[in-house]
Amino acid sequence: MSRILVTGSSGRLGRSVVAVLAERGHEVVEVDLTVPAEHADAYAADLTEPAVAADVIGGAKPDAVIHLAAIAVPFSAPEQHILRTNASLAFNVMQAAVDAGVRKIVTASSPTVFGYGSPAGWAPERLPLTEDVQPRPWNAYALSKLLAERTMEMFAAQRGEAVRLAAFRPCYVIAPEEWQGALTQQGHTVAQRLDDPALSAPALFNYVDARDVGDFLHTLIAALDDIPNAQTFIVGAADALARRPLAELMPQYVPAAAEAAQELTGTTPAFSIAKARRLLGWSPAHDWRTELGEAPASESDRLAESLEGSGW
Ligand SMILES: NC(=O)c1ccc[n+]([C@@H]2O[C@H](COP(=O)([O-])OP(=O)(O)OC[C@H]3O[C@@H](n4cnc5c(N)ncnc54)[C@H](O)[C@@H]3O)[C@@H](O)[C@H]2O)c1
Repeated sequence: MSRILVTGSSGRLGRSVVAVLAERGHEVVEVDLTVPAEHADAYAADLTEPAVAADVIGGAKPDAVIHLAAIAVPFSAPEQHILRTNASLAFNVMQAAVDAGVRKIVTASSPTVFGYGSPAGWAPERLPLTEDVQPRPWNAYALSKLLAERTMEMFAAQRGEAVRLAAFRPCYVIAPEEWQGALTQQGHTVAQRLDDPALSAPALFNYVDARDVGDFLHTLIAALDDIPNAQTFIVGAADALARRPLAELMPQYVPAAAEAAQELTGTTPAFSIAKARRLLGWSPAHDWRTELGEAPASESDRLAESLEGSGW
């Protein structure tokens, strides 16, 4: 059991992360611009202010900090504002955490760092994407997330092995209520996203259940002393958010990735979680078929998923 401070705790992902960590017996400190009045250990704070971040994190004295607070939607604000906000949030939170003697720090990045969806074109060198593929952010949001990763690495370089840090790139987050029909981050339902592949294609059909991200973070925090410092992890579902294999869908919806996508047979997703499986022994527990009550994938699809997990 640890005392874990979560920034962005009121958000789409934060609410599930807080719930899962509390279920697992952690003492959770919530920090966001606004927090539920009825929550005991919850603090309203604007973390773009360095002194505020120092006060709230220094005052809470957590064992670990999970930094989720951000402007989380590309182009939802002017580019400069997204870059300035997310970069200063990541820097201030990690600076305040190391100054307060916090030993474990994890920051949220995003798969958008890979650069898919660029109007200038994007052709992956290979699929599925792994953490060692060169990032090519093409907008301020993706750049701000790469900066968060680099900031995490900077503090590891500065503090050495005494502080254990990591970053993670969650795929398109589906909160529990969204399986029941609540709107997802892009303003449509999961079912609409499945029915119209054009909606999911810009994110290369990636997704992850928010509770699985909570479970990933619980596992990661426990493992931080035992894995190499300053790692970055892709965190996704074991399958693609699509009713047909990506090898069939990509040529139509993401033509530049068509050749690389020929590897993506069965239910194989475009984002590999093999590193999280290998280093942490973590696997997601939820997938869209079980959550939506649709027929499970065939045995051969399951086999393809587990083989993907054994590689890397
Ligand atoms: N939702 C996704 O699909 C997705 C995918 C990849 C990465 N991420 C990353 O995961 C994290 C959480 O995303 P989310 O979907 O829960 O977003 P969200 O917008 O639902 O939550 C973000 C939270 O951060 C808070 N916040 C913003 N500015 C703040 C400030 N100045 N001080 C304190 N708190 C502030 C907001 O109030 C909000 O509650 C973000 O870092 C996001 O970039 C999300």
